[in-house]
Amino acid sequence: MNVRVLLVIVSCALSVITGLVIARGGVGVTAARQRPLIGLSMDTLKEERWQIDRDLFTAAAQAAGADVLVQSANSNDVVQLQNIESLITQKVDVLVIIPKDAAAMAKGVELAHQAGIPVLSYDRLITGCDLDLYLTFDNVKVGELQAKFLADRIPPSGKLRLIRIYGAKTDNNAKLFKQGQDNILQPLIAAGKVEVMFEDWTEDWKPENAKKITNAAITKIGQNFDAILASNDGTAGGAIQALTEEGLAGKIIVTGQDADLAACQRIAQGTQAMTVYKPIQSIATKAAELALKLARRQPIVARDAVSNGKIDVPSVLLEITSVTKENLRDTVIKDGFRKESDVFP
Ligand code: BGC
Repeated sequence: MNVRVLLVIVSCALSVITGLVIARGGVGVTAARQRPLIGLSMDTLKEERWQIDRDLFTAAAQAAGADVLVQSANSNDVVQLQNIESLITQKVDVLVIIPKDAAAMAKGVELAHQAGIPVLSYDRLITGCDLDLYLTFDNVKVGELQAKFLADRIPPSGKLRLIRIYGAKTDNNAKLFKQGQDNILQPLIAAGKVEVMFEDWTEDWKPENAKKITNAAITKIGQNFDAILASNDGTAGGAIQALTEEGLAGKIIVTGQDADLAACQRIAQGTQAMTVYKPIQSIATKAAELALKLARRQPIVARDAVSNGKIDVPSVLLEITSVTKENLRDTVIKDGFRKESDVFP
């Protein structure tokens, strides 16, 4: 990004957030109570990563002097809106939302703003609303790393036959992962070096749905494929279960994302080829820091901006790493995210 654009965005972010205090009449934490109260509304706690997000975020916020109320919606939009309403009623100073459905949660942002409460979108973007701040990883790059891994494994004199398993259509991230994958794959597909044999979206990101997609693919194309581009470790796990039933686990290249413990173990054992490590410690700690600033109505410098269809949302994007059997120790284990004894039991 060039410097001029950067400066415009920085000043825009400052004015948006500072403006929010004045425009919405939010008093901020100092006038309301001693310790800021943060509301965390989560889509789900079923996947391993979200439990880690909750624990690290809560610990970081508490260490910084705040209290946190956590609600999980169990993958249900109606429940997530009720959770948000309940957090507003409990007079949180700031809301941190991990939306199940990007569009549906715009209503939650609207309700929060009516109550003078700023909103930070955590990891997943909320679309079509005046969102205050967005903190995430570089999601397009996640998809690029997954596809790049496969591109590097195209047989020299042949092509790579691919099953593509996307995430939940309702999650904006799932679209960004696909966009990143397409950036790498489209030219290779056009050149006849990659052929997509089967593709589908995984409802609610559920592993059992990814298994069904893999079963359906095998029913349709038999064993005529070399790789499964699974968009995260949960879907990779579902796909690998289907492969195991067919005696194909370890013979097919499978991608993933999140560095879930089960995925790291599969990488060590050779049934999954790669994952993308997104340091949850970084996003959770950063989110706690930013949420506190929003709660105190302090200005925030956001170096990026991401369009949510209505506004360019001031955004902070964090770095990610591709993980394979070769660098498991140098990445997730070295970082303390996983223990050597857990990954290589
Ligand atoms: C997150 C991934 C996660 C997926 C399913 C995405 O929005 O970025 O890390 O695996 O949701 O929960």
